[in-house]
Amino acid sequence: MAPDTERPVSNVQAQQKFHPSPEFSRAANVNDPEIYARCNANPDKFWEECALQLEWMKPWIQLSEWNPPHAKWFLDGKLNVSSNCLDRHLAGRGDQRAIIWEGEPGDQKTLTYRELHAEVCRFANGLRRLGVQKGDRVTIYMPMTPEGAIAMLACSRIGALHMVVFGGFSAEALQERTNDCGAKVVVTADAYWRRGNLVGLKQIVDEAVPHCPTVEKVVVFQRVGATVKTSMVEGRDIWWHDLIADTSLECDPEEMDAEDPLFILYTSGSTGKPKGILHTTGGYLTGAYITTKLIFDIKPEDLYWCTADIGWVTGHSYVVYGPLANGAQVFMYEGSPDWSTEGKPGRDRFWDMIERHKISILYTAPTLIRACMKWGEEYPASHDLSSLRLLGSVGEPINPEAWLWYHKHIGHERCPIVDTWWQTETGSIMISPLPGIVSTTPASATKPFPGIKAEVVNEKGERQPAGQKGILVITQPWPWMLRTIWGDDARYVKTYWSRFPGMYFPGDGAMEDEDGNFWLLGRVDDIMLVAGHNISTMEMESVLIEHPAIAEAAVIGKPDDVKGQVPVAFVIAREGHGPKPGDHDAIHKLDAELKDYVAKRLGVICRPADVILTADLPKTRSGKIMRRLLRDIAEGHILGDTTTLADPDVLAGIKEKYASEED
Ligand code: WT7
Repeated sequence: MAPDTERPVSNVQAQQKFHPSPEFSRAANVNDPEIYARCNANPDKFWEECALQLEWMKPWIQLSEWNPPHAKWFLDGKLNVSSNCLDRHLAGRGDQRAIIWEGEPGDQKTLTYRELHAEVCRFANGLRRLGVQKGDRVTIYMPMTPEGAIAMLACSRIGALHMVVFGGFSAEALQERTNDCGAKVVVTADAYWRRGNLVGLKQIVDEAVPHCPTVEKVVVFQRVGATVKTSMVEGRDIWWHDLIADTSLECDPEEMDAEDPLFILYTSGSTGKPKGILHTTGGYLTGAYITTKLIFDIKPEDLYWCTADIGWVTGHSYVVYGPLANGAQVFMYEGSPDWSTEGKPGRDRFWDMIERHKISILYTAPTLIRACMKWGEEYPASHDLSSLRLLGSVGEPINPEAWLWYHKHIGHERCPIVDTWWQTETGSIMISPLPGIVSTTPASATKPFPGIKAEVVNEKGERQPAGQKGILVITQPWPWMLRTIWGDDARYVKTYWSRFPGMYFPGDGAMEDEDGNFWLLGRVDDIMLVAGHNISTMEMESVLIEHPAIAEAAVIGKPDDVKGQVPVAFVIAREGHGPKPGDHDAIHKLDAELKDYVAKRLGVICRPADVILTADLPKTRSGKIMRRLLRDIAEGHILGDTTTLADPDVLAGIKEKYASEED
């Protein structure tokens, strides 16, 4: 299971280092490089200092308990996440903006901390009225509107666990996740705007919920209104505005134990169904809070924008909890980066909003940066981006070209870039520069966050010498780690703690250089990173073989200039169901049908870029699919531009050539 990504690490290393400017360093939240030595020598002391910056209803009596591989943090401490994000800011900055939102058509909404507090309390009271209690699960299937964040914060206020499902996921994905966690209520919206089109979320909920026996109520936020027809099921569905119409603006926050669950968020596994990652209250909030403060250098006067959807962990930690726990001003946008407020295609929407709103911190994904590179630098160049002072990247390894473009055309060579490595499971950032003290090199995420112990090991779990590629591990538990997989603790133990006993295995290849900087090299398992989103090859394969025409399937991630990777499916038709060789019309029809089928079953982001109909799949003698060969075929290295692999002899020949290497 060695990392198979061939990245020219040494060329990159030879490149120039970028140092934070003296002005940036002087004003930064961290400007003492000693922080690393101090915290790494005594992480426990550091975790306590971090957690003490939050507001606790009762102090913890013991910092941690490590019962490998199960950890508890801040034992017996009590706190509430929503009151840390809202109530404690009311006295000092109640009238400061908390959320500044822009809809795709250009409509805007601003909520001060006082207003956000009131909306969260009203919705929390509404949820309680529906019978939601501490420990219950609530599915949130919402667009990027402030109400998504309000619903999350309302759950945390009353101690219910939220389970957010990305609005681009299918009815089936929504149903599977909702059933796995046994949610009582689904919170959704009528529809939202994307590239000028309406996406009807409520319709998708209506498809899913009849198959979700635990769901009692569906709350519908009216984002769009009369333009879209929304049918309400009597006794089950209730409009958000009706639910909160006469609720109080105050709602007592539930006193939560530090180890009480806060949320479940599903992420793809390399085998089987998605994993419900469970995060708890005290450790998670400590991580979201302190990493936002130190890595994004956030200050009350900043306008901070993380472009992630709340359906991903990045949206949880860096749109909602981290910045609000810091009392920051958070920008949110509903729609697509290539759509203008006039309702037409417009590739400068992000830069236009940065100029108009004077956004100072931007946190986005390499896939977006690469799309913008492709569109051309004239789009950012036509806007005043001088309000920006810090840039961030997350979701996949950022290639040096994209890093340098971001630095030059967006940061105008003035803004430090924080390339942040972490995962749904880690809860908050694990490896990233601290922008006031760490010099950066394009494509290195640099140093583990103070107190985090990361290493690169070989297949046997032995530490690799500097400069050698290997597998990333985290050698000590940390407060914001996942606690388990919802309903499947054995899978938690197996997936993360069994590859190298006693060490957390994230599934990424890495290299540590002589200066202690980490280079992330991509996944070492069967997970694709499509536009920064985790997609399981296995999950897609099992969906494909459920199609009546398909007997066998193998899915690989093919490199893509913009998305990083795109899924390519190799399929074998069932006897008598497949198109005849040479019947191009039938082949194209099946190709289109399978792409739509996967998109419908798993969500549009999972749509295969290519479907290759083949008579055989190359396997090793032990029966493992030879993914490297399939990758080569998909990239055209072997067969050139081919949509079908009709000739079994060709494949057999290639298989032979590779067999000895792969077995
Ligand atoms: C996987 C986790 C973390 C929030 C978004 C994705 C890859 C993420 C980086 C980065 C290299 C990265 C890893 C990781 N990844 N950020 N800065 N450099 N790789 O969360 O869906 O749980 O995916 O994303 O492969 O394991 P996720």
